[in-house]
Amino acid sequence: MIVVCVFLVLCCNLVQSQFPRACTTATALRTKSCCPLWKDGSPCGSRSRRGQCRNRVVFATFAAGQVRQYDDDRLGWPMYYYDRTCECFGNYSGYDCGDCKYGYFGEKCDRKITVVRKEIRELSLLERKRFFSYLVMAKTTISKNFVILYTGDRHHQDTYRFVDASIYNVFSWIHYYSTKPILINGTFNSTTNYAHQGPAFPGWHRLGLLFLERQIQLLTGDENFAIPYFDWRGEKNCSICTDDFVGDNDVQGFLSEYSHFAFWKSICSGYDYDEAYCLGADDQNQMQKLHRKPGVDPVASSLPTFKDVEDTLRWSDFDLPPYNRLARRSFRNVLEGFLNPSDGVTRQRGMHNLVHLFLGGTMSEVPISSNDPIFVLHHCFIDKIFEVWIRRHNATPDDYPENDQRGQGPNECSTPYFPCYRNKDFLRHSNNFGYTYSRYQGM
Ligand SMILES: *[C@@H]1O[C@H](CO)[C@@H](O)[C@H](O)[C@H]1NC(C)=O
Ligand SMILES: *[C@@H]1O[C@H](CO)[C@@H](O)[C@H](O)[C@H]1NC(C)=O
Ligand SMILES: *[C@@H]1O[C@H](CO)[C@@H](O)[C@H](O)[C@H]1NC(C)=O
Ligand SMILES: *[C@@H]1O[C@H](CO)[C@@H](O)[C@H](O)[C@H]1NC(C)=O
Repeated sequence: MIVVCVFLVLCCNLVQSQFPRACTTATALRTKSCCPLWKDGSPCGSRSRRGQCRNRVVFATFAAGQVRQYDDDRLGWPMYYYDRTCECFGNYSGYDCGDCKYGYFGEKCDRKITVVRKEIRELSLLERKRFFSYLVMAKTTISKNFVILYTGDRHHQDTYRFVDASIYNVFSWIHYYSTKPILINGTFNSTTNYAHQGPAFPGWHRLGLLFLERQIQLLTGDENFAIPYFDWRGEKNCSICTDDFVGDNDVQGFLSEYSHFAFWKSICSGYDYDEAYCLGADDQNQMQKLHRKPGVDPVASSLPTFKDVEDTLRWSDFDLPPYNRLARRSFRNVLEGFLNPSDGVTRQRGMHNLVHLFLGGTMSEVPISSNDPIFVLHHCFIDKIFEVWIRRHNATPDDYPENDQRGQGPNECSTPYFPCYRNKDFLRHSNNFGYTYSRYQGM
């Protein structure tokens, strides 16, 4: 009885995460149902025809019951946690169908807005200041709708806990959570995760950026807000690593005290071992400050060039067997940065991976790299390259291959999002998601 009471207190007061808060109550977890009541009082807004509560709105290749004890809680997302989730109709979306699809606004989700994502140096002084103040708001405002998951030992699912986090930290946690090694039959496989080293990589990150952009639009009421990108082509060093932009750093890598992010701390930092999910998520004292050391790592002493990006865009196959870091002549694997862009065969650090390593510090620790807002700018440019490639090669969801990377099948839900977005659905023009890119430096 005492245990139950403690659990309820945890659930109803403290608990929040990219788990919809409403789906982490004791009842929701016990009944494996994530169909929250919308404001019309019906699950998934079914009375207002916004959506319906359905068994397995999941397109996973797993049969029900195939996710076993000792297996990863993220396999066949979100089957481990929920059998029933919302399926939303038309322009409606969100975990309870109370929100709109990306790019749509209004109570009835019938207002389409397409925002333009610009290079950060194209923003006016006012737009840039606004961007930094929105980020600070997102970093300091507790998410109303989502909570995050942590545990010190992933083998013991009875120790998993849900806690509150700020909107930016929810975004950061989503990346961290999907990047942890996959637990299969009690063993961690460190070469595979849900967001990298496979065909899901570009679409997974596209969805992450959309999530953050939308959360900031809703938080600030600024429906025209678009995240900016950092076009690093031709850069000798990180020219936006100044206090006017993303912040200068000292010799140890800590951000200058005059920079916008000087006092930001990294959620899920300090416990980068396989067994843990984001330990210290509820304790500021256990979090590290952001740090960055651009251009210092001898194995990553330059940024990708204009030619590297052109070469990357030439590969016409979206992805190829074996659909991991060994895939050759694969656009995805060149873009992700495991291959030389010009020959598509030689293994080397390039493109996306090279930029992470070049920037160093928090950005070079992949799971927690999303804590540094330069991650958003970098991935926004990676997404622009993805978009240019989609248009140049007329790619469609049919170009997304069947593959055996866990969680990265074409019809599997992108982990760990609500509602379900299939991995293949991101091979579409960005207009479908309510944004486009400015032209900058000839691209
Ligand atoms: C979605 O919104 C558009 C307006 O941009 C509207 O024309 C369309 O009818 C809406 N679709 C549905 C199913 O409501
Ligand atoms: C899981 O591992 C145990 C030993 O650790 C082994 O006996 C069992 O066959 C494995 N099960 C599967 C399905 O791989
Ligand atoms: C980049 O600038 C930092 C100092 O801000 C310096 O330590 C580093 O050597 C530079 N790297 C390159 C590749 O120029
Ligand atoms: C880890 O996963 C990869 C990709 O799914 C697979 O090829 C590899 O065999 C796995 N390694 C182990 C040790 O199970």
